[in-house]
Amino acid sequence: MTEIKKVAVIGAGTMGASITAALIAKNYPVLLKESNETFLSKGLSTIDSILNKGVEKGKISPDDAKRQRDLITGTLDYSKFQDIDLVIEAVPETVEIKKSVLSDIDKNCPTTTIIASNTSSMSISQLGSFSGRPGKTIGMHFFNPAHLMKLVEVIPGLLTDKETIQCTIDFANNLGKLAVQVDECASFLVNRLLGRYMNESLWCLQEGIATQDEIDQKTCEFNMPVGPLALRDMNGADIGLSVARYNQAEYGPRFEVPPLLESMVLANYLGKKTKKGFYIYDDKGSKVGPNPDLAQFVKAGSTGDFKAERLFLPMINEAFLALQENVCQKEDLDKALQAGLGMRKGPLALANEMGLSRCLALMEENFQKHGERFRPASLLKRYVFAGRETID
Ligand SMILES: NC(=O)c1ccc[n+]([C@@H]2O[C@H](COP(=O)([O-])OP(=O)(O)OC[C@H]3O[C@@H](n4cnc5c(N)ncnc54)[C@H](O)[C@@H]3O)[C@@H](O)[C@H]2O)c1
Repeated sequence: MTEIKKVAVIGAGTMGASITAALIAKNYPVLLKESNETFLSKGLSTIDSILNKGVEKGKISPDDAKRQRDLITGTLDYSKFQDIDLVIEAVPETVEIKKSVLSDIDKNCPTTTIIASNTSSMSISQLGSFSGRPGKTIGMHFFNPAHLMKLVEVIPGLLTDKETIQCTIDFANNLGKLAVQVDECASFLVNRLLGRYMNESLWCLQEGIATQDEIDQKTCEFNMPVGPLALRDMNGADIGLSVARYNQAEYGPRFEVPPLLESMVLANYLGKKTKKGFYIYDDKGSKVGPNPDLAQFVKAGSTGDFKAERLFLPMINEAFLALQENVCQKEDLDKALQAGLGMRKGPLALANEMGLSRCLALMEENFQKHGERFRPASLLKRYVFAGRETID
């Protein structure tokens, strides 16, 4: 089995820089490739600030920070790729760029080199065909920021060989990450389930059953480190809309895009980046209060009928659908969601706590009111028919 000693990262943007920081923290020498000097310097200064923060917080010594920084070799070409064991590509999510980068990696690396893609949405099987070495191509989906987030989804393509899978899982574990093997599906596991919960928060706001503060506060009290609407504002409604449209195209009506999200993008209420989203933000990015202009898109006020449980029902249902499709091992599902999203309880633990028969009854009640978003998964029904109240 290939022993991973030397790693290359392609792209020093948001993900490439933080992945590099995660690698050097575990003493891996990294060849960091960018497309031009400006982006390379920008990426390196991001890594410097990550290291400086570590020193300020007393997590690493200044000597250790320097030693880690010296493990990085910046480059603009492929001339030093002859002894690379693993390449992690983190270039922009477009077919043209991925295709040309994967083909360049194949031309310039030994045939034993594993090619891992950090893609959030592209097919690993397709990336394998772009690289010309499908057996050695795999998804390695880090979460942002990669040096802090514990989870890595490891996604084999149709033709990825077993050795590549095992090697990638071992490598992710060596980085101190929780590596969860996920079968190839749109948005993979965590973002697929997250999408259902995020959409539901917008449907609730749109219905006028709660204000943005009520939705966020109750959801945090119930199970999350940050509310869904505050999170949408952090990531940007434009990015949220393109992900939501992609999921709807892939999975159909249960992922219907809430019209409110479309209206917000048209109005340029993108969140923190435009200082206006679900909330208003000041120049420092601090929340000032709810955005009153949303009243044109949502039913005014709050009926007080909102329960945070409602957001988790579609997520639980999607968890059962994912299990039906064997997307991951049952034992891994909650761990992945907790590590990827900071949930205190994963969707299966929530379902167990509710009791599966109550969970199904709530799903059916909401299906009558809201339609496809709540159509119960057949696996959930089968558990209830079998008289099981938990999925342990
Ligand atoms: N941003 C996130 O939260 C996030 C999370 C998980 C996965 N991802 C995925 O990670 C990948 C990268 O996303 P990002 O947000 O870091 O993008 P980004 O735009 O911040 O960074 C991409 C970098 O790649 C560089 N690049 C482009 N062509 C190149 C080439 N030929 N050689 C070397 N460098 C090149 C760009 O200059 C840029 O610096 C995407 O596939 C994305 O879907 C992103």
